[in-house]
Amino acid sequence: MTGRISEETIREIRERADIVEVVSSYLPLKRSGGNHQGLCPFHAEKTPSFNVNAPRQIFHCFGCGVGGDVFSFLMRMEGMAFPDAVRRVAERVGIEIAEETISPEEERRRKEREDLFRINEVACAFYHQILLEAPEASAARRYLRERGYDGDTARTFRLGFAPGRWEALAGHLAQKGFDVRQVRETGLIRPGKENRGDYDLFRNRILFPILDVSGKVTAFGGRVLDDSLPKYINSPESPIYHKGRVLYGFSQARETMRKSDEVIVVEGYFDLLALHRAGFANVVATCGTALTEDHARLLKRYVKRVKLLFDQDRAGQKATFRAMEPLLTGGLSVSSVALDAGEDPDSFIAAKGAEEFRTRLDAARPVFEVYIDSVLQAHGDAIEGRARAAEEIAASLTLVPSDIERSLYLKALSERTGLDAELLKAKVVKKAPAPAAKPVRGAPRTEAGGHHPPPPQEDLPPQEEYPAYGVEQEQPEPRGQRPVRSPARPKEPTREQKAQDWVLRLMMFDAKTRGVVAGEGVESFFVEPVRRAMGGILAEFSLENDEVEEAQLLSRFDEEQKAVFSGILVKDEEAFAEDRERILQDCRLVVAKESLRRRVRELDEQIRQAEQAGDSSRQAALQTERLQLSRDLKK
Ligand code: CTP
Ligand code: MN
Repeated sequence: MTGRISEETIREIRERADIVEVVSSYLPLKRSGGNHQGLCPFHAEKTPSFNVNAPRQIFHCFGCGVGGDVFSFLMRMEGMAFPDAVRRVAERVGIEIAEETISPEEERRRKEREDLFRINEVACAFYHQILLEAPEASAARRYLRERGYDGDTARTFRLGFAPGRWEALAGHLAQKGFDVRQVRETGLIRPGKENRGDYDLFRNRILFPILDVSGKVTAFGGRVLDDSLPKYINSPESPIYHKGRVLYGFSQARETMRKSDEVIVVEGYFDLLALHRAGFANVVATCGTALTEDHARLLKRYVKRVKLLFDQDRAGQKATFRAMEPLLTGGLSVSSVALDAGEDPDSFIAAKGAEEFRTRLDAARPVFEVYIDSVLQAHGDAIEGRARAAEEIAASLTLVPSDIERSLYLKALSERTGLDAELLKAKVVKKAPAPAAKPVRGAPRTEAGGHHPPPPQEDLPPQEEYPAYGVEQEQPEPRGQRPVRSPARPKEPTREQKAQDWVLRLMMFDAKTRGVVAGEGVESFFVEPVRRAMGGILAEFSLENDEVEEAQLLSRFDEEQKAVFSGILVKDEEAFAEDRERILQDCRLVVAKESLRRRVRELDEQIRQAEQAGDSSRQAALQTERLQLSRDLKK
């Protein structure tokens, strides 16, 4: 299932899909004239400016400027890479994708990943069997039993036991004929020093296999049976394991998450087991890592609400507030559950029982409220402290995507600090990221809060390591493949740039073109500053000879202009097979369109500002101009 999808297939899928139906599965749409309208899911708004046009099979939000076809919608909505969006739609419309062949390099990587998964699978079965049956695991079984877990739990979570021997797994895998290099790659065995053979990473530990979203074993966590240190060790990151993308228990929680529209996030393996035992199956564990944007995106596909249930200590509280950013900006509704100080869910349930636990769960408070309390408390009651706390909170308010909620929090904050609400509001606006309260996924992030802990910086592997595999669509996608994510523009020039390059090229070789451009003015042919300046320079050259002197040109261009110039020359294909006047005409049009589009973009921004400032007459005037421009554009 890897590899490229042919253009033709993509076209077919697009034609067969119904964008209205796809969008409707995410948000309610109302018919309005030829369009369907709804509240834009990509920015916070109260009046619908999000349009879906069935005949054209496109969507567009006049509020935030987002738009495109059915694939664009899914890419934004699900944080998917393009090919995955295509596959998702293909499934919906029942088109089978015959993928084109993949490169040998891709094929090699895919096979390598498959091999690593197979090794982990064999290791998982090996350790599991030992835990269930081997005499050498009797202490482990006793340990689990004492903590309240029986064979059923062990089987549900495929728990294992790594015996104390140095080469239990190494020997087992060697006997099965696995490639040592690949086994080392999983981190399960390590090369021995000097002449000694490879040895096992996990010894004398209870093992928790960590599954990816499709249920394959990506890694293990292992706990000692006593107080020795380190309490846990985990598989290292590998081509198939990136801790920032995996949540422990996810694949077992999936169905209940979907049904309940809610997930409980805990810190530890045993917390998760404890919740399951107490009857809560919609639970995942972060296992010691900070919650990432990728985690948030993964959860967003299944639930609307997240309950954070971290250890009731300073570290747990810190982790809670740190998780706010990816979760809130990811559009999830987040609350925080309070247990008694010093407890974690496992110990709490053991001490107080499932009933009391449920009461606490139901009493979860919006995380931002808890955050406000905590910041206010930390800064004390003196005026200066209150002011600083209010400032900090106001700055973090940009994380709250709903402007209704935001204004409620502001009001509460102003009441509690005695500070003027308008003043506080100004703080929020000042810090707010430009386009919308809720940043587009993967857009370079504006420093939103400023005062709360910075978002976790996960080191992400190159995208090639994550081809989508199998029919499973739920695999976290590689960052680099998401067009909306990548701040670095691809080198491929835009249509406008290409058009301008054509004019430049003609000007270099054709006196008549230089005359036309000089006569009409460079503004008609160039929108982009570097190229416009180049056009200006070229327009000054003599019309006596067709071709301008290259050396002369180069001497007048600066470094940036030279780079453009060489780019044009390098690609000097059959430039003059075409009709020059027609090329010029086309370029004029492209440039005109682009400047119209620019004006539209400016207007959208001004409309947004007017809306924010509550200036409805200005907003209306701008809208009218905007509409006229759209019409001109279509012409
Ligand atoms: N963790 C880890 N490495 C450590 C300590 C903790 O990876 N050295 C991760 C584990 O996933 C652990 C989680 O962080 O489950 C929470 O840590 P902690 O609260 O210390 O462990 P518990 O899960 O509560 O385990 P236990 O109840 O057995 O003490
Ligand atoms: Mn704990």
